[in-house]
Amino acid sequence: MGLLLHCALLLSFSTFTAGLDFQPGSKPFGQSVFVKRSNTEEKAAKIVKRSLPAWLASSPHHKIKRRSTEQGDSCKALQGFDTKLADNTHRYTFNDLSGSVSLAWVGDGTGVILALTTFQVPFFMIRLGQSKLYRSENYGKSFQDVTNLINNTFIRSEFGIAIGPENSGKVILTGDVSGGHGSRIFVSDDFGKSFTHRDLPFTPLMQITYNPDDSKVLVVLSNNNEMWLSEDFGSNWKKVQDTVCLVKWGRKNTIFFSASLNGSCSDRGMLELRRTTDYGKTIKTVANKIYSFGLGGRFLFASVMTGKGTLRMIHVSVDQGETWNMAQLPPVGHEQFYSILAANDEMVFMHVDEPGDTGFGTIYVSDDRGTVYSKSLERHLYTTTGGDTDFTNVTSLRGVFITSVLAEGDSVQSVVSFDQGGEWVPLRKPANSKCDATAKDPEKCSLHLHAAYSTSMRLNVPMLPLSEPNAVGLILAHGSVGDAISVMRPDVYVSDDGGYTWIKALDGPHHYAILDSGGLLVAVEHSPTQPVNRIKFSTDEGQCWGVYNFTDDPIYFTGLASEPGARSMNVSIWGYRDSLLSQYWISITIDFRDLLTRDCEDRDYVQWLAHSDDISDPNDGCMLGYKEKFLRLRKDSVCWNGRDYEVNTQPTPCPCTLDDFLCDFGYYRQENSSECVEQPDLKGKVLEFCLHGKEEQLQTSGYRKIPGDKCEGGRMPERKEIDLSKRCVSDLVGPELLVDSQSSKSVSIVITIIIVMLLSIAAGVVFVKKYVCGGRFLVHRYSVLQQHVEDNAAEGIDDPLETNHTQNGKIEFHDDSDEDLLE
Ligand SMILES: *[C@@H]1O[C@H](CO)[C@@H](O)[C@H](O)[C@H]1NC(C)=O
Ligand SMILES: *[C@@H]1O[C@H](CO)[C@@H](O)[C@H](O)[C@H]1NC(C)=O
Ligand SMILES: *[C@@H]1O[C@H](CO)[C@@H](O)[C@H](O)[C@H]1NC(C)=O
Ligand SMILES: *[C@@H]1O[C@H](CO)[C@@H](O)[C@H](O)[C@H]1NC(C)=O
Ligand SMILES: *[C@@H]1O[C@H](CO)[C@@H](O)[C@H](O)[C@H]1NC(C)=O
Ligand SMILES: *[C@@H]1O[C@H](CO)[C@@H](O)[C@H](O)[C@H]1NC(C)=O
Repeated sequence: MGLLLHCALLLSFSTFTAGLDFQPGSKPFGQSVFVKRSNTEEKAAKIVKRSLPAWLASSPHHKIKRRSTEQGDSCKALQGFDTKLADNTHRYTFNDLSGSVSLAWVGDGTGVILALTTFQVPFFMIRLGQSKLYRSENYGKSFQDVTNLINNTFIRSEFGIAIGPENSGKVILTGDVSGGHGSRIFVSDDFGKSFTHRDLPFTPLMQITYNPDDSKVLVVLSNNNEMWLSEDFGSNWKKVQDTVCLVKWGRKNTIFFSASLNGSCSDRGMLELRRTTDYGKTIKTVANKIYSFGLGGRFLFASVMTGKGTLRMIHVSVDQGETWNMAQLPPVGHEQFYSILAANDEMVFMHVDEPGDTGFGTIYVSDDRGTVYSKSLERHLYTTTGGDTDFTNVTSLRGVFITSVLAEGDSVQSVVSFDQGGEWVPLRKPANSKCDATAKDPEKCSLHLHAAYSTSMRLNVPMLPLSEPNAVGLILAHGSVGDAISVMRPDVYVSDDGGYTWIKALDGPHHYAILDSGGLLVAVEHSPTQPVNRIKFSTDEGQCWGVYNFTDDPIYFTGLASEPGARSMNVSIWGYRDSLLSQYWISITIDFRDLLTRDCEDRDYVQWLAHSDDISDPNDGCMLGYKEKFLRLRKDSVCWNGRDYEVNTQPTPCPCTLDDFLCDFGYYRQENSSECVEQPDLKGKVLEFCLHGKEEQLQTSGYRKIPGDKCEGGRMPERKEIDLSKRCVSDLVGPELLVDSQSSKSVSIVITIIIVMLLSIAAGVVFVKKYVCGGRFLVHRYSVLQQHVEDNAAEGIDDPLETNHTQNGKIEFHDDSDEDLLE
């Protein structure tokens, strides 16, 4: 019996967290701002409804074309692996009673891991604590205690380990020197081999951030909101500015920060957005009366007060704040928020919160200028309390995104878009699964995935959905099969085609990792109360799993750790042993290299056409104007891709159709039509929205290519161009003279993942925190309350009425109606 997640849970918040606007440290680009619907709203240009491949709707069985033999054979292919793996299993025991461990990979392919343990007791008003530092140079197979390098200083573990961008080998640890003036940091620029300490003339409020383009340059806010900067990796610091509320690194050595004229960061809506490109020598104010700001891709966003009550609106700049355009998005009031869900240089997914404590809002997708928005998904689940949304960029296939909607009856349902937000559909039911009790019809239901919302609700979901750009098409996620997501014990589902089809791969919750660019998957059962000794592995993308007992003496398992980037063959199982007299940390590292006896050859790969079921159909597989063929590993090939494996793709352009265009500023699509027509209510009227930009950008025929669309030839819309600049009226930020917008170069930052494992015996609670560094960190804290969840579920069984009658299975997906946004 499944008990549905009810909105009662999400609606139980009464106060709004003050920092919800562009919340630092919550998510990369995470920002939230708040509002009220006004009648100045622009009718959103609508996105084209692009049809799904026919087979998705009709054929119930998707043929797996990458298997050349029958399924049974490959399940037997891995024989006698026990001794191979036993010879490659390395145990390391930490003589350490600390409550938490943070792990950080330093560099890419270096095998260097730093493990920081902290033992902390709150003692009256001061914190007493002890830190120990360990270092491995062999992917975690053995560690060295290097606590002496930090002179036994207590490290503030909430700031984590700050790893420098690129392969700089830089590391910063922030010490906690209680009672003193200022603080002490330990810095290393040789991958943590040696550390030197630096005394800071201030106490940091946040983790020190690196300039992504020059790792010597550091910026941080102090606990009294001063902005401090160092150009020599922490030796000398200068104060750049007082009363700074938020600071972020932009591109090309640019620092953006919001400053308060009043000295109080709670004076939202009265802040100034400033910019320095020369490390504080000159500072320019680029916007006034802002509520907050955020960066995403090449776009700079600011929420600016409109002067009408508490309403504010998003303004966007693609030239570092020199010129601004008003985004064609509804304004929001103080109790609402905006959030950048995902952004790249081409476009942004923006969430606009609904007025009232609804727990949902609307997703809009932008054009390539970040100014014109199309409504993409309504009733998008995004709670204000925890700032939690399930929105996930599936990085293993272009254009695929997964998120959740709050359906009628307050049930939470998963939806997927295969075309960058153009259309959202439910996930197909896995062929090998049965609908659970949440389904009205036992034959017809869909798959629902657990993501950040479920973990914030403390469901028994140890990991978020996982995909990696180099493991093409692969997604691993927890989920359930029914009409809505269930709070019962989830299972692990795998898709090998970017989310079109799924199979149930493992029973019950697991921690999982992708190794060898998808050639190997590993999983360990998540069981906080029972010690474990088994790791499961699969060489065929989750269809068959081998089981290996990695120890005779089971451990309390806290998490899996493997090098970010999914190229490794080494995976560490972290946990602790608990005996009457002591608890201690243990890490067991398995090198799977010997399992895959040979390197992959050409014959191990087979062509695969993304977004398609039929590679021979010339019209199939077009997505955003082009199709991509990949060489992918055969499922039954047991071989090693290797660290140097590169995704092999052959893109070919598709002919354009009107569906490759969105309607530009001032145009919209009528129902059931691909044609963009001028909005009648704008004719002869002045517009609230402004477009500043280069001359040619202001000429429009009403159509604009969908961002990222690379179609060629075919049907191009033809129409006389009109000048949009004439339609502009107001601008709140105050436009500056046009300057050449700088070319955007994407900054590649090596993402380093740090896992924090806490061992809290007294409370009997295990936390697993996952930090993604690079300045900000994404904290994923999971609190194991399994019994609690199951208790709830048991109650649900007694009350089947609630389960089955409160939801009618209706989801408001995007359709071609835009009446909501009309006045
Ligand atoms: C540790 O302390 C010693 C003696 O006080 C000092 O010489 C050394 O530089 C310190 N090391 C670090 C990394 O701070
Ligand atoms: C400071 O804040 C108060 C109240 O929030 C406001 O009335 C005043 O105008 C502000 N002063 C400046 C200089 O912004
Ligand atoms: C989604 O992830 C892919 C792969 O990392 C990236 O290339 C793309 O820009 C992302 N899309 C958005 C909108 O952030
Ligand atoms: C592996 O461990 C399980 C218990 O977790 C046990 O039942 C099984 O017999 C073990 N297998 C081997 C090969 O030792
Ligand atoms: C696994 O670890 C060993 C060192 O113990 C290293 O030589 C090897 O390159 C690692 N394998 C991969 C694929 O990263
Ligand atoms: C659009 O198409 C749908 C289904 O094809 C139909 O039910 C609806 O009436 C059409 N709307 C208009 C305005 O033609």
